[in-house]
Amino acid sequence: MMKKNTFLLISFLVLVFHCQGQKKEGYDNSLLEQLPHHIKLSWETSPDHSQAVTWRTRSSASKNYIEYAEATASPFFEERTIKIGATTQSYTSDDGLWYYHTVNLRNLKPNTQYSYRVGNKDHWSEWSEFKTATGQNEPFKFLYFGDVQRYIHSLGSRTLRQAVLANPDSKFMLFAGDMVHRGGLNKENWNEFFPAGGWMFNNIPIIATPGNHEHLKASSGVDISPLWANTFAFPKNGPKGHEEETFYVDYNNIRVISLNLNRYKYPEDRREILEWTEERLKEYEGDWIFITHHHAMRGLARNRDSGVRFPEFQTLYEKYKVPLVLTGHEHLYARGRMVMDFPIHVVSVAGPYQNAIQFSDWIERAGTSMQLYQEIYVSENKLRYVARTVLGEVYDAFTITKNENGEMQFEEAPDLPAESLIPTKDFEKRYDKELVKTYEADKAKYLQRKNR
Ligand SMILES: [Fe+2]
Repeated sequence: MMKKNTFLLISFLVLVFHCQGQKKEGYDNSLLEQLPHHIKLSWETSPDHSQAVTWRTRSSASKNYIEYAEATASPFFEERTIKIGATTQSYTSDDGLWYYHTVNLRNLKPNTQYSYRVGNKDHWSEWSEFKTATGQNEPFKFLYFGDVQRYIHSLGSRTLRQAVLANPDSKFMLFAGDMVHRGGLNKENWNEFFPAGGWMFNNIPIIATPGNHEHLKASSGVDISPLWANTFAFPKNGPKGHEEETFYVDYNNIRVISLNLNRYKYPEDRREILEWTEERLKEYEGDWIFITHHHAMRGLARNRDSGVRFPEFQTLYEKYKVPLVLTGHEHLYARGRMVMDFPIHVVSVAGPYQNAIQFSDWIERAGTSMQLYQEIYVSENKLRYVARTVLGEVYDAFTITKNENGEMQFEEAPDLPAESLIPTKDFEKRYDKELVKTYEADKAKYLQRKNR
């Protein structure tokens, strides 16, 4: 009898210890809110010597930290870790009070893999890895996404997954704004966007430019959501007052410039951003410059003004022969030039919210009613661009090559599939009768112009 009781007692104690062990490992769902989450990588300073990490917690019971070390296959590296306290800001949004944590790891070695985790004494994230840039001129690729914005959980997420599953060695993910619909809110917005990226964001850094929807009022260019600066850590190398919105990142032999042209309507802001951009273009001695801003250079959705939105910037891009301008906002796909040579403008969309197109003269390739992502391959003398549908099929592709004199040549890939120009499902309800009526004729004219 005694033996049976002892056995039961030991079994009970084993079960209790087992459950406690699981709790410590973070499997208890009630702890989820306490665990660090929305963990993501970005750059505040140079990608070969630093790495910024940001995350969010519900509880500020104790200070948050990052622990990191050079990565090893051996799991016994905890004694070598360095611990650094995070800078923390609090913000109350539609789902309550949150704490936003940032650490910029500096003095890292180039071309080196590090392991890191974030949290505090009881609540830690899993260990994840990142690798610093080599700082050398060598081939690499990155991913570019247009608006994710709406139905992020249900449909936007599949574009991110497909892009990264097909390109796990991408050096960063570039978002051309409107990652969410209401940038000041978490529910159906950031609370969907970051889980959609999940562990991918723990491993691959983000570069993002603010869209109109990351502002408190989508129509305004000044009231950027406080969640932008709280959530991300981007370079503070832009003009004063525009930090982390207008900035540049030099990754090996390329420069990526983010411009918050939501501010364009304010003359003083416009002048500051323009002057700053010219300096960044003039001084650059690397191989390739990419410019990203949220709004496409011209309106393309069927009910929008098709005029040039930022004429001084277009002039600047032409003057400095910017190869590629990566944008969003129109919720459709378009690629083309407004002058004979450069820049090439691209407008893309990652999420399911789609607009019908107006077939402007400058378009060389268009697409509607499809979710897309883009791979951009960079080497010293060649830039290869591939747009793929969410299923991974090639939709658009071209190369830009540079000769010994630095002159660029554009070449569209042969054998691209026929363009998908299906209007949106709710096209007839959403657009004026006239715009609906003339759609097929405009489309026919567009295809005829291209002799297809
Ligand atoms: Fe948008």
